[in-house]
Amino acid sequence: RAPEMRTATGAEAGKDPNARAQQGDYLTTAVGRRVPDTDHSLRAGDRGPTLLQDHHLREKITHFDHERIPERVVHARGTGAHGTFTAYGSAESITRAAFLKKGVETPVFLRFSTVLGSRGSADTPRDTRGFAVKFYTSEGNFDLVGNNIPVFFIQDGIKFPDVVHAAKPEPDREIPQAASAHDTFWDFVSLHTEAQHHTLWNMSDRGLPLSLRTMEGFGVHTFRVIDEAGATKLVKWHWKPKAGVHSTLWEEAQLIMGGDPDFQRRDLYGAIEGGHLPQWELGVQVFDDTEDQMFSGIDLLDPTKLVPEELAPVQPVGLLTLDANPTNFFAEVEQVMFNPGHLVPGIDVVNDALLQARLFSYVDTQITRLGGPNFQQLPINRPHVDVNDNQRDGFHQHAVHAGVAPYRPNSLGAGNPFPAPAEQGGFVDHPAVVAASQTVRAVPASFADHYSQARMFYRSMTPVEKDHIVSAYTFELGKCTVPVVRERQLQCLANIDADLCAAVALGLGLPAPKATEKVADVEPSPALSQVGKPFPVD
Ligand code: HEM
Repeated sequence: RAPEMRTATGAEAGKDPNARAQQGDYLTTAVGRRVPDTDHSLRAGDRGPTLLQDHHLREKITHFDHERIPERVVHARGTGAHGTFTAYGSAESITRAAFLKKGVETPVFLRFSTVLGSRGSADTPRDTRGFAVKFYTSEGNFDLVGNNIPVFFIQDGIKFPDVVHAAKPEPDREIPQAASAHDTFWDFVSLHTEAQHHTLWNMSDRGLPLSLRTMEGFGVHTFRVIDEAGATKLVKWHWKPKAGVHSTLWEEAQLIMGGDPDFQRRDLYGAIEGGHLPQWELGVQVFDDTEDQMFSGIDLLDPTKLVPEELAPVQPVGLLTLDANPTNFFAEVEQVMFNPGHLVPGIDVVNDALLQARLFSYVDTQITRLGGPNFQQLPINRPHVDVNDNQRDGFHQHAVHAGVAPYRPNSLGAGNPFPAPAEQGGFVDHPAVVAASQTVRAVPASFADHYSQARMFYRSMTPVEKDHIVSAYTFELGKCTVPVVRERQLQCLANIDADLCAAVALGLGLPAPKATEKVADVEPSPALSQVGKPFPVD
């Protein structure tokens, strides 16, 4: 467990002046007065009214009344664990990031999540899974906020509220809670054909992971890495589970949802408790940082595209081992926050319009979810390095700042932190060249192909995986009540693969449309199939 958490939530709480909440032998009020009786309110006689003057009663009830905080607007259902990341040193040639230097061990916290369900929903719906890792590095926190699917529904973050509105439960009945079998979802993805690739992954076995321990993770976006000399490369991050990639069948997932909605969090907790520590290798696909940021005809700024591993192998850079369960779910899993903008020197962002919107959205939502601008001070979110940021005050401020001049430069001296140039560990934004000469609201021509990678994914599947995909579309579209939406989605399937479309159309009892788009035939990528990957040993 991260040392901060041990201090804040464990037996040593008394040593941390910020954690005076659970120490001493006696029950007390919140301000330390000992309490002789917490089971009976103060009343005017044993059959008389309760008295307003009972401070302990009012404090106990008031605090309870405010125990809930808003759940995350997406990814509300989750669980997490602490771990250690050990770098192999193989990334030293492409990035100066200290936590990737050979042998460096970095504490991490990992939160897994479903995307659409509420906090109390089940673990095994058909959905994308979040795979968010916070590295407490010697240069500040680095958050790798990824998913278990390497592509996303949209190409521009301005559409994120739209896709989430379409995929969340319908606003009138709040149904369905956790699946994609509804009209608004299919309406959205058939109208926004860039969403077809991600949707196909959802309809495949990847939408039904068996265990959190048997999922891959992906950073999705391309990132820029910078070495000691300032030279740059582009990378895509991959997490490869040591236990292999495995899924449930749809029928199994449904039975599990009914029988044990906590199946996956129980599995993760039990594995760690039992010493079967889950492990993932972190790897990168590396690309030249060319002017056009294209690789093999794929626009690396388009988050609806992946790069097949056959074209750019994933090179392992370190090993993550989850080795401790949370002590307190609220303090760790609920209060943890991630932000794709939490970067360290040697790692930077690119002009992916989805990523750029994320850089704004996370901190913004956390101001509401975690009650003000000081959530970085919560134990699980604190970096393991000094903080001296000249930020002051605000809701839930826990620091007692010293000094009278929290601004720079100042001539009053005390508490005046110095800016750090790169040589002293400063994060210097990479001076990327911005080519645009005029502002536009437009999609690049290189983002226009919405089908060839969906086709590649489908044609990379084994027959049994294809069968599962056909069944999933047939079942889910069978629940869609608007004929025009079902037909439009069948049209999208026709553009992806005629056989897929014909099989789903047959299941729905509808005619199979002909393709309307000329779609490139891309070589299949066998690495996309789950079949043949090692089975868990535990
Ligand atoms: C939460 C991944 C796109 C907004 C999350 C979480 C993950 C994630 C893993 C859960 C974090 C946790 O466990 O606390 C992704 C990925 C994306 C993506 C991989 C695309 C590649 C977006 C976009 C936006 C967005 C485009 C907005 C423009 C949010 C918000 C939360 C969230 C508001 C809730 C954060 C919180 O309450 O702490 N996302 N997301 N995401 N995401 Fe994303």
